[in-house]
Amino acid sequence: MRKKIVAGNWKMNTTCQEGMELAKAVVAKAGEVPANVGLIVAAPFTHLCCLSEVLEGTRVELSAQNCADHASGAYTGEVSVSMLKSVGCQWTILGHSERRQYYGETDEKLVVKTKLALEAGLGVILCVGENLDEREAGKHFDICKTQIENVLFNFTAEELKSIVIAYEPVWAIGTGKTATAAQAEEIHAFIRKVLADKFGAQVADDMTILYGGSCKPSNAAELFAQPDIDGGLIGGASLKADDFLAIAKAY
Ligand code: PGA
Repeated sequence: MRKKIVAGNWKMNTTCQEGMELAKAVVAKAGEVPANVGLIVAAPFTHLCCLSEVLEGTRVELSAQNCADHASGAYTGEVSVSMLKSVGCQWTILGHSERRQYYGETDEKLVVKTKLALEAGLGVILCVGENLDEREAGKHFDICKTQIENVLFNFTAEELKSIVIAYEPVWAIGTGKTATAAQAEEIHAFIRKVLADKFGAQVADDMTILYGGSCKPSNAAELFAQPDIDGGLIGGASLKADDFLAIAKAY
């Protein structure tokens, strides 16, 4: 049985104090979410140390939104995987489309970052997804396949156990325009097939694949009811504890 996960991606939102309040509000009602749904919050670097204290001993796990592509050294402004571990972080998001688009995150860099993260004992939420032009040109399957091949095919079946995929169509992120449940399911099933062809049916079957892109309380239940959608990576709606939890309760 693969893991169900609902992860909040706070992006560059909240001050540290606001983030602590938000995390406390999530923790306060986390018990209402079915026990088999993993809860993760991905906060800005500045918040992680304080948040790990708020989340300690709770069911809510802590994630970063990125990590450096070097282990340590003269890389001003970067944050390494060992630094993330040292503040109690359990996960990092990698390859979010905003990082691919604005910060030159390439698949090659993602291989390096994923390796470092796994070696440090961090779980990885790897984002893939096509933009609007690619969708309209009917290239969405190819784009997702290439992103998966370029990054995940460099890892072993054993390493894949620490990786979660998030399918996030770029045209649905922060736009209010959600992929329909059928559109999302079609790609999720396709991604699982790509994994099955390379790693075998069991590995593919065990892989958690999240949907992200304008997921909210009103559409979560329909998305999560799809056989290959194992939860969500939630941006805007994760900034309100009640909305985030309502999405997680949609299971
Ligand atoms: P959104 O963002 O829910 O605000 O569309 C999702 C994401 O980018 O992870």
